[in-house]
Amino acid sequence: MERKSLYRRRRRKMMHHMFRIWMAMVVVMVVTLAVVGSVSGESAGCTSRYARRLSQRGIDMPYNSSYFAKPVGENPPQQVHLTQGDYDGKAVIVSFVTSKLAMPKVRYGTVRGKYPSVVTGYTTQYTFHNYTSGFIHHVVISDLEFNTKYFYKVGEEEEGAREFFFTTPPAPGPDTPYAFGVIGDLGQTFDSATTVEHYLKSYGQTVLFVGDLAYQDTYPFHYQVRFDTWSRFVERSAAYQPWIWTTGNHEIDFLPHIGEITPFKPFNHRFPTPHDASSSSSPQWYAIKRGPVHIIVLSSYSAYGKYTPQYSWLVAELKKVDRKVTPWLIVLVHSPWYNSNTHHYIEAETMRVIFEPFIVAAKVDIVFAGHVHAYERTFPVSNIKYNITNGACIPEVNPASPTYITVGDGGNIEGLAIGFSEPQPHYSAFRESSFGFGLLDIKNRTTATWTWHRNQDGEAVSADSVILHNKIYVEKDVMLW
Ligand SMILES: *[C@@H]1O[C@H](CO)[C@@H](O)[C@H](O)[C@H]1NC(C)=O
Ligand SMILES: *[C@@H]1O[C@H](CO)[C@@H](O)[C@H](O)[C@H]1NC(C)=O
Ligand SMILES: *[C@@H]1O[C@H](CO)[C@@H](O)[C@H](O)[C@H]1NC(C)=O
Ligand SMILES: *[C@@H]1O[C@H](CO)[C@@H](O)[C@H](O)[C@H]1NC(C)=O
Ligand SMILES: [Fe+2]
Repeated sequence: MERKSLYRRRRRKMMHHMFRIWMAMVVVMVVTLAVVGSVSGESAGCTSRYARRLSQRGIDMPYNSSYFAKPVGENPPQQVHLTQGDYDGKAVIVSFVTSKLAMPKVRYGTVRGKYPSVVTGYTTQYTFHNYTSGFIHHVVISDLEFNTKYFYKVGEEEEGAREFFFTTPPAPGPDTPYAFGVIGDLGQTFDSATTVEHYLKSYGQTVLFVGDLAYQDTYPFHYQVRFDTWSRFVERSAAYQPWIWTTGNHEIDFLPHIGEITPFKPFNHRFPTPHDASSSSSPQWYAIKRGPVHIIVLSSYSAYGKYTPQYSWLVAELKKVDRKVTPWLIVLVHSPWYNSNTHHYIEAETMRVIFEPFIVAAKVDIVFAGHVHAYERTFPVSNIKYNITNGACIPEVNPASPTYITVGDGGNIEGLAIGFSEPQPHYSAFRESSFGFGLLDIKNRTTATWTWHRNQDGEAVSADSVILHNKIYVEKDVMLW
């Protein structure tokens, strides 16, 4: 009895002691969690583990795919696509290809089937190794009315004419809602087809394309027929709304050992940009206004150091931006300046160092990029204090700085970029290795919504969605800085 109760007392004492130790451990853990939590806070980034398909290369659709079908007729126009043709949005460049010589002519009007106006452009053609392109026609339709639906016809009746339509944007102005699709690194795989099908179901009115179009250069001798198939594939969207082109590395087509020494030759023959309208000396960098946005397109693969044409142009262009007219300021560039994926890691660092101070000073709202075959969105961030002696090289999250969004996830033959660096850097808000596209829906001068749609299970599922606040115009109840 005695020994039993002694034993019980000792056991109670020991348990009491253990309980105190255990409680102390819990307290330490709670304090630790609270400290860690307060550092990362509510704004901690998310690395989504969702991955639709890991690491396999994509598969290009076969040449006989219905996505690449040629239109019927004697000499029908094919590969029809549009881009903005001037600075303000009152002009459109209509491009198309014919296999036989044809007039570079577009008929248009505001009533379906009636084409009272006709405009003639120019025809070009190029060779690449032993490939000779079709006849590539570019026609600028100018002085259109804003906010108006136009119908247009390309080709001659007896040769297989084709009809399409587009709607001009509203005049540049502060409170004109407008929705942009954002697509990058598209290629022509089965995944690319899903991305485009999903984009077609969205209400995007213009595509901001952040570079790397057809991936023709993944074929021997950069087989240019893949540029033709790609252009027939995207016609289902690009013939009805402008795609705003950014040049990526897959557009360089530089093959000196076979005598192809002019960078961007095929791209520049096929996809003209309205660079003259913004006093740019190159199709690779230019600016346009479209509704509520001033859009600046930069070239990762053209010189950008101080004194270069692109540098001088950017500095001058930023001075032309009038946020009273276009409250939103957006930059498109191929290689991302903030990228925590191991793919293409730090590739654009020299360009960031040179251009970021201007971009931050101009209060750019969003910088869109591609190149990395995944999705990533940052918090507003900048890193411009470093000056080689002060060691101030940590990216700084600050609501006044631009948001960086990488959408190199169109679905090309090279497959997904799996492998984000760990831990997720503090400036990275959301990242996921899946294919998809983005939709930037500008509501008014203060507010836009951004949604990234992952190509999941045959549906366009929204996987990341945020409200973006303008850097100049702030709603009264929104505390930004
Ligand atoms: C495309 O060609 C392949 C053989 O190369 C054939 O198996 C397939 O049925 C063809 N598809 C179509 C849509 O014609
Ligand atoms: C083009 O050149 C490649 C490589 O030299 C060759 O395989 C191909 O057959 C050529 N095509 C034509 C149409 O001559
Ligand atoms: C570098 O930055 C520090 C402060 O951030 C400043 O004191 C210093 O003068 C700068 N050096 C140069 C060479 O600009
Ligand atoms: C802008 O749009 C947002 C979202 O629709 C709305 O909450 C806000 O009141 C609007 N602001 C103005 C000035 O119209
Ligand atoms: Fe790229």
